[in-house]
Amino acid sequence: MSIKIAGTGIALPENHVSNDELATLADLDTTDEWIRTRTGITNRYISSTETLTGLASTAAANALADAGATPSDVDYLLCATLGGETRTPALACRIAENLKLTCASVDLNGACTGFLYALDMASALIQTGRARTILIVSAEKMSAHVDWHDRSTCVLFGDGAAACVVTAGTGLKYINLVTEPDSQVISLKSDMTGNNPLAPVHEPASFLYMDGQRVFKYAVNMMEQQIRSALAAIDLPPEAIDYYLIHQANRRIIDFAIGRLKQPTDKFPMNMDQYGNTSAVSIPLLLHEMRLAGSIRPGQMLLLVAFGAGMTYGSCVLEWE
Ligand code: ACO
Repeated sequence: MSIKIAGTGIALPENHVSNDELATLADLDTTDEWIRTRTGITNRYISSTETLTGLASTAAANALADAGATPSDVDYLLCATLGGETRTPALACRIAENLKLTCASVDLNGACTGFLYALDMASALIQTGRARTILIVSAEKMSAHVDWHDRSTCVLFGDGAAACVVTAGTGLKYINLVTEPDSQVISLKSDMTGNNPLAPVHEPASFLYMDGQRVFKYAVNMMEQQIRSALAAIDLPPEAIDYYLIHQANRRIIDFAIGRLKQPTDKFPMNMDQYGNTSAVSIPLLLHEMRLAGSIRPGQMLLLVAFGAGMTYGSCVLEWE
């Protein structure tokens, strides 16, 4: 037994912010030209009044409606996120509260690979008979994690939520997750001392740090390696894949993969121009958009690849049902 994705849904903040608008912000010495040519990003959604819990709950409700399911059908909720409004309770529990779910509800933090981690866990829960209908919600408020005075990171990210309903099926053909441990290249520190008078050093919470060039090198190498291992594992050539859905961090990283695999560019859908890097939301958001556009049909083969802080990497092959 394997799994299938039975429904998808998204939710985005109202505020769609262009590169030109960012360039007008005080202390942010940037241009549309720099951002667009280095990353392929032209816009991103940034929360102003919306809460992450609200966006995540709306995406979850939309995915359930798309799957023709009700909250009472859900017997496991997995939320892929760097973190919600409260460290505890988990964002998953707050979504459960809004949707009136009483099933197991838990967050997992796999950074930008988080959706693939959730898919892997959903597959295990369904195969072992622990669950029949799993709601995966990816939700990120990256605008709260970046330093808005650091032009090398804040322009890259966007906010949003994307959810999917997973049930038993035959679609998942392969999934693989790897960690190449390196906690220096991307990190977001927590304040682990609080006001404890017995702690010698009090470090304030900080913003997302990223060594962009190192991430770029990791990403281009691992991307090709992940794709080739997935193809070898299911014994298919690159031509057999209809779409490669790659984490939408940077157009140049995806262009590199296209060059290496020598596959047509239209097999590599991209939407980072409108959303920026939305971390764990990136792949399910792209999947949802492709479904809405009617691009994905039953029988088509999709190869998903993600990479993120950790460094975490993952790939999976889905035959769409
Ligand atoms: N506007 C204008 N100039 C800028 C900006 C900006 N927004 N940001 C940086 N610069 C400047 C730098 O200060 C530097 O100036 P200098 O040469 O005078 O020192 C110059 O541009 C070049 O900077 P680089 O960092 O070398 O630029 P690079 O070409 O490497 O592009 C980028 C940076 C876009 C971050 C790229 O390295 C990248 O995409 N890396 C991968 C990031 C990624 O994929 N992250 C995903 C994982 S994130 C996660 O998991 C949470």
